[in-house]
This record gives sequence, C-alpha cells and structure tokens, in this order.
Amino acid sequence: MRDFEANGLSGAEETKLQYEYIEKAKKYVSQKEKELGRKLTCYVKTFGCQMNARDSEKLLGILNEIGYVETEDEHADFVIYNTCTVRENANNKVYGRLGYLSNYKKKNPHMMIALCGCMMQEPEVVEKIRKSYRFVNLIFGTHNIYKFAELLCRSMESDSMIVDIWKDTDKIVEDLPVQRKYSFKSGVNIMFGCNNFCSYCIVPYVRGRERSREPKDIIREIESLVADGVCEVMLLGQNVNSYGKNLEHPVTFAELLREVNKIEGLKRIRFMTSHPKDLSDDLILAMKECDKVCKHMHLPLQSGSSRLLKIMNRHYDKEQYLALVKKLREAIPDIALTTDIIVGFPGETEEDFNETLDVVKQVQYDSAFTFIYSKRTGTPAAAMKNQVDPDEVKRHFDILLKEVQEISAKKAKELEGRVMEVLAEEQNIQDASLITGRLSNNSVVHFPGTPDMIGKFYMVRLTECRGFYYLGEIVEDA
Ligand code: SAH
Ligand code: SF4
Ligand code: F3S
Repeated sequence: MRDFEANGLSGAEETKLQYEYIEKAKKYVSQKEKELGRKLTCYVKTFGCQMNARDSEKLLGILNEIGYVETEDEHADFVIYNTCTVRENANNKVYGRLGYLSNYKKKNPHMMIALCGCMMQEPEVVEKIRKSYRFVNLIFGTHNIYKFAELLCRSMESDSMIVDIWKDTDKIVEDLPVQRKYSFKSGVNIMFGCNNFCSYCIVPYVRGRERSREPKDIIREIESLVADGVCEVMLLGQNVNSYGKNLEHPVTFAELLREVNKIEGLKRIRFMTSHPKDLSDDLILAMKECDKVCKHMHLPLQSGSSRLLKIMNRHYDKEQYLALVKKLREAIPDIALTTDIIVGFPGETEEDFNETLDVVKQVQYDSAFTFIYSKRTGTPAAAMKNQVDPDEVKRHFDILLKEVQEISAKKAKELEGRVMEVLAEEQNIQDASLITGRLSNNSVVHFPGTPDMIGKFYMVRLTECRGFYYLGEIVEDA
C-alpha cells in the first residue's frame, strides 16, 4: 500500500491529465469494438452507502465517456464492484458474487473485472483476492478513484492484475464525468473521510481523514445539476455537521445550507449524515429558515446507554441526545427523525440495552436502521475482550426491531388522510400502473400515474397507510 502519490499535480492539473487518459481509453475501446464487431458493455455494482453510490456514478460516467454501454447484470465486458466493509456481511456478499464472475469470465475471455471501494483499503482483503481470485484484472481503493481512467488504461495494457491502493490522500479532483442514476435527483459530496473514530467503526480507516470541498465548487456543481434537470440534492458526508472546519476560510454546514437554499430552480435539499455531537443551534435555525430543506433528520443514536456511548467514543450521552431531539422538535414540529442503532457492542448488558429501548420509546423515531454489531479488524472495539454472546444479541435485536417497527407504523398512521407534496421518483416495480414518490419527510407513497410524471411534484392524498409506506391519489398538480 502506498502512502499516497506525490505527482505534485494540483487538482485542476490532475483533471486535465485524467481527460487525456479518457481519450487514450476511448481508442482502446473503439479498437476492441472493431475486433468484436459490436459495442462493449459494462456493469457497475454498488455495495454500501450513498457515498459509494455517488462514486459509482463517477465510475459509470467515465465508462460511458470512453464508449462502454451499460447493461443490467454481470454478463458484461467490464464489471466493477464498488465495495463496502462497514459490516462483515457486506464483505461476504462480494466474495459470494466473485465466485459467479469467474464462470462468466471463462465464457467471455474479453471480460475485465475490477474491484474498488472501502473493502479494498484492507490489506488482508487484497491479499486474499491476489491469492484466491486471480482472474480479477484491477484493484484500486477509495483515495485514487479519480484515477479510474488512468488505471483502466494500465489494465488494458497489461495481462496481469493491477493493484493500486493508497493509505490516504489530500487531493480533491473536480469536474470528472458523472452518469447519474436519476435524472431529477443527485447526491453531492460536500466532504470526504471521517475523523471521529467511533470505536466500532472501520470507515475512518478506509476513507481517510476528513476533507471538505470548497463551497464555491459545491454551489457550482449544484447549479449545473439544476441546469441539467435536477430538483433535489442530497449533500453527502460521514459527518456533515463538521463540514468546512478545515477549509482555508472556514465555513459552517449551516452557512453552506443557507447558500444552497438560494439556488434558483432547486426544490429539495437533503443531507446525510448528522453526528449528534456537532449539531449546532445554528443548523437547527438554518433548517427551520430554509424552505427547500426537507423536514427530515437522520440522527444516529448507536446506543442509548451513556456508559456505552462513552466507550463507543461518540462524545454525547443519553441526556444530551434527548435534549437535542427536544430542541429539533420544538423548532420544527413536523420533522421526521430517523436513526441507526447497534445491538451487541462489546460489554452491552441488559441494562445498557434497556437504555437504548428507553430512548427509542421516548423519541418515537419515524424509522430506524438496526444493526447487529460486527467486529471490524483494526478498530478498538475488535480488541475488547467482552464480546457479547450471539444468542443474547439476537434476542435483544428482535425485541428492538419489534419496538422500532411498531412505533414507525404508529407514526406513519398519523399522516393518513392528509394531502402532501410528493416528488414522483420511479415506476413501481411490482405494479406498473403506480408511481412511487417521496414526501419531504422521506416517506414513500405509491399512487396511480405514468412514467412521464417522474421528476415532478404532485399534491397527493395519503389514502391508506400500509405500515411504513402509503397508498395515495393525486389531488392536483403541485
Ligand atoms: N457516519 C455515519 C455512519 C456511517 S456507517 C454516522 O456516524 O452516523 C452507518 C451505520 O453503520 C452507523 O451509523 C452504525 O450504526 C453502523 N455501523 C458502523 N460500524 C458498525 C459495526 N462495526 N457493526 C455494526 N454496525 C456498524
Ligand atoms: Fe463511523 Fe463514527 Fe465516522 Fe460515522 S462518525 S463514519 S460511525 S467513525
Ligand atoms: Fe460502507 Fe464505505 Fe460507505 S465502508 S458504509 S461504503 S463509507
């Protein structure tokens, strides 16, 4: 693993260099097309979070630019897995699918296979792939993803596996091609990496130190997205509340939000993720004042036990978290609150678990992601001796899940009968006569409609609540 590359280029020079590699790769692809007498196909599979999804749009942007045509599955000439390693099962999924890929490659000798993303930042993973999955052509990590075009060229010029992984980077490279999954909404990175080192979490090790993008670059990107038909953006970072602290001219997340809110033509602003320790009063005020900011806050709790929160290195306790929720609800009464909770952190007792349950009951989350603790190599929690008995964890997990689901259903029921603004997002997968859309609070609504409605807003009556989603009907155009 390299520390990181010292080619001395600025971000702008690097962008220029990568466009030269894109031109070179185009030639390789068109040569191959002539040989085969057909277009080359590609498939990008994303594991993990919104940040990875956004990275995949950048990979696809480059693949499109050089001439690949996207396909639906792994029967493609170029397959890339953008991996996640936040929990053990995320890793296992990748190994499982790699097994299939080797068979596909036997049938299509032109096939190229690449792996990138968080899992590749773990040296043991790369070792295992080198040894046991030798048919892989290219491996790179999270820090050098902007060099995809260059690495692709190297890989096309070589018969052996190319591996290029860096420990970290200080560079942010702007203006490379992107191919969005949705025409009307987009993720926008506002920062990369994480400095928090929650004791269970591998993200800071695989994503490197926190780096914020310049506000002007963010605004410029959103303006051009809006000009291209985007009406909703999701501002992305592992801890958006600490945005801008390390910029040459520091800017707060609340200030950024106010600037983004001014962008004409933009309708909805979401963001992810907020760390409770850095959630300022000014941010709450900004959310209240900015009409485009959605009425939704994802505020990971992780545990309700102050004792465990300390060992988790979260920098808040149960009381502070509850006080924050109270403040948010006072300022924005109809705000939806969602969260992440881990069950089975080392040393978790019945008492600790009951504290979590107590917070869940008090806060009444609109929805919650519940995770079983997964031991991640290299994190402080992995070395803790008091790992919890899996049966006990499962018992707690089931109790928590039941509670969370009952509360979600009850909360969702409160909006039944109301008329609310919905952004039409996609055709329903099971029933093509329905359109699936979202409320400002992030809840999903299915209502009769046609694909031409996608990307537009409608006033919809929530006629029936079905647990955590609604059936609705259009009342009038928004
Ligand atoms: N930066 C975000 C979270 C990113 S990871 C934040 O701080 O909120 C998403 C979620 O995965 C976390 O909120 C946590 O609940 C869960 N998670 C992270 N590491 C985990 C582990 N080792 N085992 C189980 N869940 C984990
Ligand atoms: Fe992981 Fe904590 Fe950083 Fe979130 S804030 S990515 S949970 S270390
Ligand atoms: Fe997974 Fe990496 Fe995101 S570990 S959750 S894809 S930052």
